[in-house]
Amino acid sequence: MTKVSIVGAGAVGTAIAYAAQIRGVCRQLSLYDLNADKVRAEVLDLNHGMQFTPMAEITGSNDLAVCADADIIVITAGAKQDPGQTRLDLAAANVAMCRDLVPALVALAPDALLLVVTNPVDVVTMAAQEFSGLPANRAFGSGTVLDSSRLRFLIAEHTHVAVQNVHAYIAGEHGDSEVPLWSTATIGGVPVTDWRSSGASPLDADARAAIHQRVVSAAYEIIAGKGATSLAIGLAVSRILEAVLNDEHRVLPVTSRLDGVHGLADVCLSMPSVVGRAGVESVLATPLSAEELQQLSASADAVRTTARSLGL
Ligand code: LAC
Repeated sequence: MTKVSIVGAGAVGTAIAYAAQIRGVCRQLSLYDLNADKVRAEVLDLNHGMQFTPMAEITGSNDLAVCADADIIVITAGAKQDPGQTRLDLAAANVAMCRDLVPALVALAPDALLLVVTNPVDVVTMAAQEFSGLPANRAFGSGTVLDSSRLRFLIAEHTHVAVQNVHAYIAGEHGDSEVPLWSTATIGGVPVTDWRSSGASPLDADARAAIHQRVVSAAYEIIAGKGATSLAIGLAVSRILEAVLNDEHRVLPVTSRLDGVHGLADVCLSMPSVVGRAGVESVLATPLSAEELQQLSASADAVRTTARSLGL
């Protein structure tokens, strides 16, 4: 039976658990949290809906041993953004948390993949790789899967087309320096920059800039309103879990250690990648415009600078 373990039963961890349960991602789902009462309550609440979802054995504990023998461990624990705080501001605290947490998880589940969600996810993924000693494909992060979903939603809203037919990616840091890959964004094979439809204004430079800004500011807006983002990241991570556990070889912009694609190396950053049972199987050399390459290099510098300041 496939087992997913989620470290952290806060808003994000429980949203991931809930999405995974509804989508029937795995047969065993365990949650860990320092707060025994919280994790017990979340597990009770999830189990009470089991009649309405695919079957799964859902357990939880404040003992990390609940993650034993997992196939994939999702790390969501750590400090979260306060209103106005950037994700990179969380790096020192959350990397420090990983120093003991990650080796303990590897000892409990030596064959597990590590899927990092904790922010700043690119830097924390670098930490997870270093502290776990796992090969690069087996320790990766949710990256810009959620940002790309936000971008696709906004493009679909602008063009009056189903979001499922919008193919567009955000690459780079999951954060303020993220890069929309407009030059390869398409709808039905039509470049979005050439899209024309009745009732929809063209996606000109101003419209693209406005959409980009709405993607970058999305989390800040939601945090200001409800304290944390949770629902969409829950669905995004559940999608990544499905790609792994079903060995889908699905293209998703997860964050992983780049090995020279577009000249970028020694940094974890999101690029469209093939995701399957082995984790990140390959990172695609998605074509970039000169401007996108420049922005991606700047994004890599932002992540690398923070990582190096923490000794990674
Ligand atoms: C967000 C969090 C997951 O972007 O960083 O909603």
